[in-house]
Amino acid sequence: MKSKWTMVLVCGVICCAVLILASRGAAQAPTVAATPPMGWNSWNHFAGKIDDATVRAQADAMVSSGMRDAGYVYINIDDTWEGERDAQGVIHTNSKFPDMKALADYVHGKGLKIGIYSTPGPKTCARFEGSYGHEEQDAKTYAEWGIDYLKYDLCGLRDMMNKAGSPEAAHKMMVDAYIKMRDALRKTGRPIVYSLCQYGNDAVWQWGASVGGNLWRTTGDISDRYSRMAEIGFGQAGLAKYAGPGHWNDPDMLEVGNGGMSTEEYRTHMSLWAILAAPLLAGNDLSTMKPETVALLTNREVIAIDQDAAGKQGDRVSAEGPIEVWARPLVDGSKAVGLFNRHPQPMDMQVDFREVGFKGKVKMRDIWAAKDLGSMEAPYRTTVPGHGVVLLRVTP
Ligand code: GLA
Repeated sequence: MKSKWTMVLVCGVICCAVLILASRGAAQAPTVAATPPMGWNSWNHFAGKIDDATVRAQADAMVSSGMRDAGYVYINIDDTWEGERDAQGVIHTNSKFPDMKALADYVHGKGLKIGIYSTPGPKTCARFEGSYGHEEQDAKTYAEWGIDYLKYDLCGLRDMMNKAGSPEAAHKMMVDAYIKMRDALRKTGRPIVYSLCQYGNDAVWQWGASVGGNLWRTTGDISDRYSRMAEIGFGQAGLAKYAGPGHWNDPDMLEVGNGGMSTEEYRTHMSLWAILAAPLLAGNDLSTMKPETVALLTNREVIAIDQDAAGKQGDRVSAEGPIEVWARPLVDGSKAVGLFNRHPQPMDMQVDFREVGFKGKVKMRDIWAAKDLGSMEAPYRTTVPGHGVVLLRVTP
């Protein structure tokens, strides 16, 4: 009898110890991408014309423009840095990047972090060397260079998936490939943000986090046109529940400052991405920015919405033809409310805050106008410019 109670006691103590250790582990867990990653990526502006000197210039400009101090951290090198593998299978850079470790040191020396790009397939989208069959080796190389972020782009694996025999087998091949690199990154012991890029296939938002993704592209490539940006951004409706600290929906990088959209349209781009808790990865040339581009990218109140600590993605509240209302709940009980006009001409809009979840009087601030609008109860009426937005912070 005595020994039975001793057993119970011992088991109890062991269980408590396990629970305490497990809860400590959980508390320490996801510091990687606790808020949506902010930084810059080379692809949208430079594509294949990216090299060591250009990356250094972007890091310099990220600091001198004030972007670093506004929260932009990652300097991400996209496709076309890859060289050949040596006899041991170790990947090397091509001649555009003479010394990746030295470049990483330079970027780190500016108080920034550095990202790189690869594919689970044998070749990248731009036909450079991929990680297929070398996942652990590549993760180790990245960690040795001091890499902090990996964008892992399906591309070259698609040819192999096409020969898999069935959609189920192709899906499994893709998921296994993402798990393989997740494990390889974890094995390095270095915290590396893991960015999945497979264009939103197979409803990646439903399983991206389970394969270790800190973010996953939900769409094909963005371009510097309002129609494409709007198609992607407004197409994110319904995905909010899949995002949260450490795992984000990624509607692709920013085009702000690349010249293909008007200031109103870029304001829509920034506002929508902030409501969507999207990664803010600038995709322009940071070394030649006009003051208005810097202002768009560094608006502190817009960034605060994007980076809100509650980590809740916003969603569409209503759509009436080209007029859409989107809202995002924020940690202090207020909401970011975007009144979007997708029509090319100005439109009068009216928003009833009860539809956005408020009762009684609300306090409003127009964020882009940097103006408090006072308290009101009646529906709010305003005119929204063509392809534009009125972005409000609404407090009960
Ligand atoms: C794909 C990705 C882009 C970019 C290119 C590089 O198209 O979606 O974001 O990384 O590959 O080749």
